This record gives sequence, structure tokens and C-alpha cells, in this order.
Amino acid sequence: MRLNRKLEHIQFSLQQKSRGGATGFDDITLLHNSLPQLDWGDIDTSCYFLGKKLHVPLLINAMTGGHRELESINGNLAKAAAAAGVALAVGSQRAALEDNSTRYSFSVVREVNPQGVVLANLGADCSLLEARTAIKMINADGIQLHLNAPQELAMAEGDRKFKGILENIQSLSRDLDVPVIVKEVGFGMSRESIQRIGAASVPYIDVGGAGGTDFVAIEEARAGRKTWLKWGIPTAVSLLEGLSMNRAKTQLIASGGIRNALDIVKSLSLGCSLVGMARPLLRVLVEGSSEELNSYLSNIIEDIHRIMLMLGARTLEDLQRVPLIISGNTYHWLCCRGID
Ligand code: FNR
Repeated sequence: MRLNRKLEHIQFSLQQKSRGGATGFDDITLLHNSLPQLDWGDIDTSCYFLGKKLHVPLLINAMTGGHRELESINGNLAKAAAAAGVALAVGSQRAALEDNSTRYSFSVVREVNPQGVVLANLGADCSLLEARTAIKMINADGIQLHLNAPQELAMAEGDRKFKGILENIQSLSRDLDVPVIVKEVGFGMSRESIQRIGAASVPYIDVGGAGGTDFVAIEEARAGRKTWLKWGIPTAVSLLEGLSMNRAKTQLIASGGIRNALDIVKSLSLGCSLVGMARPLLRVLVEGSSEELNSYLSNIIEDIHRIMLMLGARTLEDLQRVPLIISGNTYHWLCCRGID
């Protein structure tokens, strides 16, 4: 059952078309700088995440694992992450907690990428022992705890119990030896949710906004239904919601519908510390090859350099100071929510 679900998630996610403009990033314009006063070689995209250096603040977000057939996907994603100098998260490790024989489909990422930033992944309702096992399985630098109530509710076999999750996150964050990253899976977060998670001493929140992969539609398609429910807070809006609060203790990660270098640079300019991408990378790998994935990532990194130069931003810190305009629905949203 679980294997079928994992394979069907890949199959149905790849059939999905992106909803143009649904992330809100089209509403954000970065102002061109006619006098960048920089050379190509000056641009520095590097940063530190969980104590390790990344070449660019990019994360190959959680997708898969849990069966032999998925070993090569995770192995190739890990190879690409190592070559590009970006972070990588594995998909939910629940399957490996239930069936030891599937562990290699996750631990392969650490074998292939021994030095890189690798994140474990489980639902936010997991126990302390389960989280520790998942972390140990891949010698993870941190663990993503995913929140996905709309997805569960769209599945006949899905979870119906969501009480106590915030308290569980708080105790996991306190008791685990590695940092916790709480993430949504494409439904976004309001500032109220972000504030409550931050108050639970969570150091990183991945807003996982709407506009990219849509897991309600995927689950409905698996059940042979066409979805009528468009649900979630767009990614750019979720980011602005979170950034509108005091974020001294919690860093934000942007993901959900990130489709090119411009989306990445816009997210970084708004103030997040890392940007996650999932389905586009899976598509290049599954429909193309691991070489194509490597060049896809190289091109994105080169495009990030190009955009930074056109903005006159030498470093990621400079990016957070570039002027930008917010228009359209995203601007309307900020007005309605009293965010300036
Ligand atoms: C996912 N995603 C996901 N997230 C998670 O926390 N645990 C998981 O096991 C999975 N599994 C998974 C499978 C597949 C096939 C896809 C495409 C995605 C969600 C993913 O990490 C991300 O939050 C969303 O896909 C939104 O990002 P994109 O795809 O729009 O870039």
C-alpha cells in the first residue's frame, strides 16, 4: 500500500501542471540596477546552513524513499546535491520505520553525499524514538517534520487526528540532538501558524506555500476523482506573513512552486534564508537523466549569479537590501492583513 502510494505520488505529481502565477511571485518585481559596479567573479552565493557551507542557499526538498525502486532516485538526487553544493531532504521515512528492508533507499543519500547537508523527514506527529531512528538512519544534520492536514483529509486512508501536534513539535525540538525544521507540503502558512511554531522553539520553518505541487489534487487523482478544492496560502504571501513578525529566533525557508532562479532570488530578497525545490528536479531526473539534473542545477545557479549581478548584489546579505515592488493580489493581501 505504502509503496504504491510512493510511486503514485511520483507519477501523479509529474502529471500535474503548474498553476501560473499562483505562488504570488509574479507580483514581486526586483528593481534593475544600471550600475551594478561588480564583476561576475565578485558574486558570492555561499551561506552556512546547519553548520555546513552551501554553494547556494538551495534545498532539494523532501520527496521519496521507502522501496528498492526508489533507491536510484534518492541516490541521484544526493549525487546532484553534492555536485551543486546544495542541501537535500529525503521523503518521509515512515516506510523504513515499518519495514527495515527499505532503509537503504534513504541511507543511500548519506553514502553518496557523506559531507553534505542531509535532512531526515517524518510527519510532525512522530514519536521521539521514531525521530531519533530516522535521524540516525541517514546521519542527518536536521529533521523536517511535515504538516499536511489537507493531504491527509483528501485520502480515504488518511489521518484524522491532529490534536497535540504543536506540543509534540515543541518536545521534539527540545529533546532531539539536531535542529528541527517544520514544513508544510504546499499549503502555506499564515503568520499565526508561523508564530505558534516559532514559539515552540523551532529554529527553522519551511512555509511550503501553495502554487506548486498540489497534494490535494494528487490524492484526489489517486482516488480517481477530479479535485474542486484549491486550497492554501501562496508561497510569496506565506513568506511575507512570516517575515512580518519578529524573526530573531526562527529562520524561514521558502518552498512551494519555486520554478526558476528568479523565484529563488525574489524569495531571498524578501528575507528567507534557504529556498526549497521539489517536483521540477524530480521531473528532470525521471524524464531525463542524472546528467540533465546536474546541468539543470548548474544553470539555475548561473542564473542566480546573473540576476544578482543585474541587481548589484554581491552577497546574499546585499540581496536583502535591494529595492522591490509588491503589486497585485499580494499587495492587496498585505493591506488586508495590515502588513507593511
Ligand atoms: C513530496 N513532498 C513531500 N514532503 C514531505 O515533507 N515528505 C514527503 O514524503 C514528501 N513526498 C513528496 C513526494 C513527491 C513526489 C513530491 C513531488 C513532493 C512535498 C515537497 O517536499 C514540497 O513541499 C512540495 O512538493 C512543494 O514543492 P514543489 O514541488 O512545488 O517545488
